[in-house]
Amino acid sequence: MAQIICQNLSLGYDGKAILQNLNFSIHSGDYFCIVGENGSGKSTLMKTLLHLQPPVSGSILTGDGLKPNEIGYLPQQTLVQRDFPASVREIVLSGCQNCCGFRPFYSREEKMLATASMEKMQISHLARKCYRELSGGQQQRVLLARALCAARKVLLLDEPVSGLDPKVTVEMYRFIEELNKRDGMTIIMISHDIAAAVHYASHILHIGQSVFIGTKQEYLQSGIGKNFAKTTGGE
Ligand SMILES: Nc1ncnc2c1ncn2[C@@H]1O[C@H](COP(=O)(O)OP(=O)(O)OP(=O)(O)O)[C@@H](O)[C@H]1O
Ligand SMILES: [Mg+2]
Repeated sequence: MAQIICQNLSLGYDGKAILQNLNFSIHSGDYFCIVGENGSGKSTLMKTLLHLQPPVSGSILTGDGLKPNEIGYLPQQTLVQRDFPASVREIVLSGCQNCCGFRPFYSREEKMLATASMEKMQISHLARKCYRELSGGQQQRVLLARALCAARKVLLLDEPVSGLDPKVTVEMYRFIEELNKRDGMTIIMISHDIAAAVHYASHILHIGQSVFIGTKQEYLQSGIGKNFAKTTGGE
């Protein structure tokens, strides 16, 4: 049974649709990549899946026992957020379930979860540092650790490698792959890196003049995927 099911989903703002009639399902353990041009609606789709933005029409259903507090989210970064004046530990802790923004007290379990997430992302030594004094790559690790505090089953990542150098990018992709393969975490990731999407994903949603949704194999056989393979020399 699918964890997330979109039925005739149209999304956008103020009743005006950017994308229309999307039908797809995401299953446990899928690695679902969303690619497409700037402004095509990728982040809006992710926010709609998270119920942070109401759909224009259609519905998003959850199944397979998935609960809202089992979903982690790494939002797309803005410059303002990069300048955030809080410690790494505070930022990671703020990812603990059902928690919006900052609050002064956390339970023992939440603190242990944050410590474990920081260990997983190998940032424990940065715990007391101020977030805005970190490099871009370190900041992304902090945000991934934050998302991991909530992600028991599903992790949504909006451009997790943007601004990272090639070495850190590969590390980040490997880490996400490990979460998917070892822990069985469902990954939904937005990326501009189609080559990486083709390499890591099990399923691809490509938003272009038309919308393609299917497995990686189907994508590579499709017109849009063949076009990509032609320009890059394929996989
Ligand atoms: N809060 C908002 N209110 C109204 N329109 C918005 C809002 N946020 C985004 N949009 C518009 O919706 C469209 C899709 O934006 P979205 O951020 O989903 O694109 P994207 O595919 O994530 O782009 P990028 O690759 O640049 O991150 C754009 O035309 C954008 O201007
Ligand atoms: Mg975006």
